[in-house]
Amino acid sequence: MNKSIHRYLRHLPSLSGKTCVVTGGTGSIAKALVEDLLFLGADVVLTYRSEDKARRLVSELGGLSDRIHAVFLDLSSKDSVLSFLQGLPRRIDLFFHVAGTYHRPMEFTPEGREVTYQTDFLAPAWIDGFLLREHPEARIIHTGSVSMYYSKVDFQDPMSLKVGKTIRYGRDKRLLALYVLFLQERYPDGSYVLAHPGVSATSLFQSEKGGFSKTFERLLVPVMKRVFMKPEKAALCLVLAAFSGEGRGELVAPRGFLHSWGKPRVLRLRKSLLESDERLLFPGLWEREKL
Ligand SMILES: NC(=O)c1ccc[n+]([C@@H]2O[C@H](COP(=O)([O-])OP(=O)(O)OC[C@H]3O[C@@H](n4cnc5c(N)ncnc54)[C@H](OP(=O)(O)O)[C@@H]3O)[C@@H](O)[C@H]2O)c1
Repeated sequence: MNKSIHRYLRHLPSLSGKTCVVTGGTGSIAKALVEDLLFLGADVVLTYRSEDKARRLVSELGGLSDRIHAVFLDLSSKDSVLSFLQGLPRRIDLFFHVAGTYHRPMEFTPEGREVTYQTDFLAPAWIDGFLLREHPEARIIHTGSVSMYYSKVDFQDPMSLKVGKTIRYGRDKRLLALYVLFLQERYPDGSYVLAHPGVSATSLFQSEKGGFSKTFERLLVPVMKRVFMKPEKAALCLVLAAFSGEGRGELVAPRGFLHSWGKPRVLRLRKSLLESDERLLFPGLWEREKL
């Protein structure tokens, strides 16, 4: 862990004795988050899709591994979500939804939903439905993206089947933000936070994930790596979200230009989202889509 991350974490409260769940634990930002949570003393349940990756990660985290437990979760399969929910620990203090996908070719889940829509918005919301019932103690942290500001949800086409990959991602992250606002209004006793980690050239941009070409990966990703934040720094927004940002309409995000860089801060969501008519339409979609 580098010195500036260490300095940041040293000033935060201990999480000793707390149980945290992190989805997409083998991903770049989530992996850094898991390290931070372990540093703060938490027990961590992380989810994986690839057993090999999970095994490598747990062995990399070495001596701390008695505080890590890895479980399988594929958000693009409803069956997988349901069996994951049955295996959750008895107490959950912090639930971090970090798993996500980006810029994917059009693909569908076994139940016929577009994959980005289910992975980035719907399945995390299904999980929350269970948490609200069975784990009211859990603080729920969602990983959004500022791309939510550059799209609108078309409630006639909520899966965004008529638009391109990048817009689809923005719409799904916007749906996620509308969903967090909905939770804050409908279930005010709970604790829900929306965080945006900033921009980081992570494995989200790998060609093997399906959306980008090998040329993009070879030429542009190295440039992005130099320009944008490292995943270790991006993870700090999620760490801060463990302690602040649950106020209505708040977003935990880097304070720099376009929220792409910088230290984490609690900000206000833009009016274009807070005052959007989409907020009135969202509950209808949720009634149709909830588990
Ligand atoms: N990087 C950025 O600039 C940026 C900006 C804004 C928001 N975000 C958000 O930050 C989060 C983490 O992204 P990242 O940059 O760290 O990317 P990443 O390294 O690709 O991590 C994404 C994680 O999600 C997992 N995942 C993907 N599809 C899944 C599915 N169907 N079921 C379960 N897990 C699944 C991946 O599993 P595998 O390890 O098996 O691939 C991986 O662990 C995402 O929600 C992303 O939208 C990132």
